Amino acid sequence: MRVVVTSSLPIDLAAQVRAKFPTARVDVPDEWIGVERCDLTDADALVCLLMDRIDAGVLARAPKLRVVANCAVGYNNVDVGALTAAGVAVTNTPDVLTEATAELAFALMLAAARRLPEGDRLVRSGQWEGWRLDQLLGVQLLGKTLGIIGMGRIGQAMARRAVAFGMRVIYAGGRGDYRQVALDDLFREADVISLHCPLTPETRHIVNARTLALVKPTAIIVNTARGECVDESALLHAFSERRIFGAGLDVFEAEPRVNAGLRADPRLVLAPHIGSATTEARTSMAQLCADAVIAVLSGQRPVNLVNREVVIRG
Ligand code: GLV
Repeated sequence: MRVVVTSSLPIDLAAQVRAKFPTARVDVPDEWIGVERCDLTDADALVCLLMDRIDAGVLARAPKLRVVANCAVGYNNVDVGALTAAGVAVTNTPDVLTEATAELAFALMLAAARRLPEGDRLVRSGQWEGWRLDQLLGVQLLGKTLGIIGMGRIGQAMARRAVAFGMRVIYAGGRGDYRQVALDDLFREADVISLHCPLTPETRHIVNARTLALVKPTAIIVNTARGECVDESALLHAFSERRIFGAGLDVFEAEPRVNAGLRADPRLVLAPHIGSATTEARTSMAQLCADAVIAVLSGQRPVNLVNREVVIRG
């Protein structure tokens, strides 16, 4: 039996697998090496990260594969149809990263609303001349409307935080306790628009030139979902004309490359895809992957099975 991991992990996967299957070979590199560099010839299980594209090409290199445990909640990097057709189980890591991701989205919203990166730069530059009545004026969040695109687990967690801050919540897509509105109305009404949807053909470029034309000039866009949900050139254009107030982006269209225009604008708050990057969340995500691999190799259905129609062979 052989388990292949494309990256180092914050848990001892090898020890856990061997406790169940003493003769198993477990390949864990010291850092992320990418699936292309992994020998999958006799791999029964693969643990991968969201930068690993798992498709028919990978399947062709892995004739014995039974499970792909994607160490992320989003699985747009996995061709689920191709894996299901080949009888390979696909798992992801929901729930354990919900609060961490909502915390980061909230941090980006606060940072954009209060222009923290600009303030940070000013202080570090040594050019700050002292308190001014009109310096770095931001927007107050109390009483404002948060528009959530994709009211799933993370959207709900973001909404709970916003309510505690005295914000109203509306949403489009998904299901929740708040007021559901049509997508265009969300763009028109919201003071902060936060994306919490999976990347699908419907959500690709859901923030685009047309929808950005609907938003208030004081609006803030927050994206902790997937970079491709936002048309970055349209965002940059709206931004350069100051047709929106700010944005907090944790994800980008061509990661790890980030559009030079975005990098140059000090009004944008940028983070390197760290939504789930807390020790707690990342450890639990790795553990869910280990549990999924051990379950499938034991002939059991893993809890976080994405392709529920796949048959787990005993
Ligand atoms: C991170 O982006 C994830 O999908 O878990």
